[in-house]
This record gives sequence, structure tokens and C-alpha cells, in this order.
Amino acid sequence: MSLPNTNSTLDRIRTRQARVGVIGLGYVGLPLAVEFAHAGFDVTGFDVDPRKAEQINAGKSYIPDVPEADLAACVKAGKLSATTDMSQLGTMDVIDICVPTPLRKTKDPDLSYVVHAVEAVAATLKRGQLVILESTTYPGTTDEVVQPMLVAKGLEADVDFFLAFSPERVDPGNQQFNTKNIPKIVGGVGPASTEVAAALYGATVQNVIPVSSTRVAEMVKLLENTFRAVNIGLVNEMALMCHKMNIDVWEVIDAAKTKPFGFMPFYPGPGLGGHCIPIDPFYLSWKARQSGFECRFIELAGQVNGAMPEYVVQLVGEALNSTRKALNGSRVHLVGVAYKPNVNDVRESPALDILELLTRSGAEVSYTDPYVPELKLDGRTLSSVDLPKALASRPDCGVICTDHSVFDYQAVVDSGTLLVDTRNALRQFTGPKIFRL
Ligand SMILES: NC(=O)c1ccc[n+]([C@@H]2O[C@H](COP(=O)([O-])OP(=O)(O)OC[C@H]3O[C@@H](n4cnc5c(N)ncnc54)[C@H](O)[C@@H]3O)[C@@H](O)[C@H]2O)c1
Repeated sequence: MSLPNTNSTLDRIRTRQARVGVIGLGYVGLPLAVEFAHAGFDVTGFDVDPRKAEQINAGKSYIPDVPEADLAACVKAGKLSATTDMSQLGTMDVIDICVPTPLRKTKDPDLSYVVHAVEAVAATLKRGQLVILESTTYPGTTDEVVQPMLVAKGLEADVDFFLAFSPERVDPGNQQFNTKNIPKIVGGVGPASTEVAAALYGATVQNVIPVSSTRVAEMVKLLENTFRAVNIGLVNEMALMCHKMNIDVWEVIDAAKTKPFGFMPFYPGPGLGGHCIPIDPFYLSWKARQSGFECRFIELAGQVNGAMPEYVVQLVGEALNSTRKALNGSRVHLVGVAYKPNVNDVRESPALDILELLTRSGAEVSYTDPYVPELKLDGRTLSSVDLPKALASRPDCGVICTDHSVFDYQAVVDSGTLLVDTRNALRQFTGPKIFRL
């Protein structure tokens, strides 16, 4: 039977009177805030970065997956605004936390952003509030870290306020699946929390899957991302093996994926990138180690995937060698630096490691990426060079690191540049000047 606080919060959600706050307005938080606004809630975004709040209030989108017209319409209709003033959290019925969860240099979880956000929530926590953590993290974060900070304010979890974990599964740049149509996993610290959080998402996204606890919900996300990291590690190792055995790994994968069951294609590449796959599995291995369990697959995949940028540089060396040139002193141009196609995100991008390794070997580097106008390398700022201009300057070698759909590969090949292709972007082309991963 639902308790009075549950009923009142559920009513406010069902009637869309609930005021929803989203803390952290990045790749995850901003699309989610817009989706809550579309669902009819009054949404306030909270971020420590005043530029983000200003841009949102001016109706400007800085996340490619959030169309500016959509954002501007929500702001104009009075459904969405943003602020840096955390004291307003106390006026929210729902607070959804979407702040970063990076790793420290030692590969230990850095929960400092989550802790800061929860401190702000705790400062104004009120009866009936629903608090949801969406940041990817290790199993136990919600009940071991977040809950004690909130109950310290004298309210009881799952009775006076509600607390749940719901992993964000968004895939930036994916045209088919988005915040609205990706099924949402929800696990509360108790049944009332699960019920209230499921009601919120049920009003907002197409499909909600309640699970029995916050730990299950946390683990779901880590299983998904570990699955990707391990399979990418496996296929990267296959690529290295095929190279030694003179077999085309891309042709092998294309043929293998004709099997209608029991196989799912993963592709080799220059290394893992983004805020999720290179990081999240280490949240899990760190936590598992505390229970005396070594996650061997995670560590092995990390080693294989982490060594890919070096392998790419080795391939560039082999390619240059075929034209009697050395890495040292050669001009090497990277085509694409974002961590995946058609996004502007360079976090953990393997292209950054490749640029650094090439520079260390004495190569002179440059890059083209229409989504990334500038990037920092060893304290210097590099600017993206227009692709035709870069090719006309006759670099000694080009390296395709990101397969953005805007690239004209016919022109790249026609330029006669020596090429290392880490993405099989040049699948229709052959010739002595193309070196494939
Ligand atoms: N990017 C993805 O594809 C993706 C997908 C699924 C899950 N996730 C997870 O979602 C979480 C957020 O990732 P993201 O990519 O949106 O990060 P992001 O860096 O794009 O956005 C995070 C935002 O939080 C703000 N912030 C930091 N500390 C804050 C605080 N104390 N109070 C208010 N705002 C604060 C930052 O200024 C930034 O705008 C991470 O845990 C990540 O692992 C990301």
C-alpha cells in the first residue's frame, strides 16, 4: 500500500505538477532535461558552468543530439530554464543527477562530482522529493554513498523521500535510438522509490524496466559497457593476429556476421574513446576487488584496447617505410579526431594518444575534423585544417581515425596520399598506398 508521501509525489508526477531538476547539463543531462520538458514537466537545469546555463536560457544548444529548435521551443514555452544557483534545488519535486564519473590517474573511481552534487541536494532535501542518480558508477554507490549523505538530514529513505538509480544508456550521434526510445532501467532503494521513479520515467520515455534494487540497476549498465569493452578487445586482438597471418580481418567479420544467430559483429579500431567504454569497466573491477574478486576479462581488454594507439603508430611507421621514409621528420595528417563518427566529443579519444605518440617520434602532426575546430596537444593548440587544403599540402601520410560521414574518401584516395585506415573507411578502394588496420 502506498504511503502518504508516495501518493502525493505520484500525484504531482501524474498531473505534471512535479517540478523536475536536472543536475549536470552535458551529453546526458541536457537531452534528458528536454525530454522531461516534452513530457509536460517544468524543468530546471543546474550546472556549475555558467556558460551552459546562459546558452540554454538563450535557447542555444551545444549538444549535437539536441536540436536547437527543440530546445528553444521548450525555453520559450517556459518549460525549461537553467541556473547555477543550487539553492533552488529545494523547490524541486524531482532531482536527477547526471554529473561526470571519471577515473583518477590510478584508475580508481572519482566520485567527487557525484559527492558535490549530492551535498547540494542534501542541503535543501525536503519531504516527498525523488532523487535519482543517472551517472554511471559502481554497484553500491547509491545505497553506500548517496543514501547516507541524504538520511543524515534526518529524513528516512523510501518513506520521507525517494531514492533511485537509473542508468543513462544514451548513445550520442545514434540516429535510431535516443533518450526517448531507449528502454529505461529503474531500481530504487525500496519499493516506494522504484514505484515513484518508474512513474516519472513512464511519463517521459517509451519503456521502463523496474529492477529489484539500485545495485542491480548500477550493475546492468556496467555489464552492458563491459560487454562492449571486452568484445572490442577481442576483435582488436583478432585484427593484430590477422595482420601477422596476412588475413583481412574486415572481410572475416563481414562474412562471420552472416550467421543469423550466436554472433554479433564488433569492429577493430584505433582504441577506445568517449566517457563510457574506456572508463566504466574499471569502476566495476575496482569495486569487485574490494570483495576479493579480480575481473580478468576487464583488465585484459583494457590492456589490448589501450595498446591500439601504439599499434596504429607502428602501422604508420610501416607505411612510411614502404616509401623509404621515417616517422621522424615526416608530416602526418589525421583525418578525424573525435572518438566516434559524427560527434564533437574528443574525451579519451585514441586520436589524442596517436597525435602524442607521433609527435614523440618526431613526426609533424596536423588534423582535420569538422566537429572539432581546435584541440590541445602538449600545451599547444592545433586547429583543424580543411581536408582539401590538407591533402593539397601533400602530407607524407594520412591516418583515418574517425569515419565521419562528411568525409569525401574518393578525394582522399585521389590525392595519392599514403594512407593508414583504422576504420575500414576505404573499403571500396585498394592499392599499394592504403594500409588497413
Ligand atoms: N556521454 C555519454 O555518451 C554517456 C552515456 C551514458 C552515460 N553517461 C554517464 O553520464 C554521466 C554524465 O556524462 P556526460 O557525458 O553527460 O558528462 P558531461 O561532462 O557532458 O556533462 C556533465 C555536466 O555536469 C556538470 N557538473 C559537474 N559537476 C557538477 C556539480 N557538482 N553540479 C552541477 N553540475 C555539475 C558539468 O559542468 C557538465 O556540464 C557520466 O557518469 C557518464 O559516464 C554518459
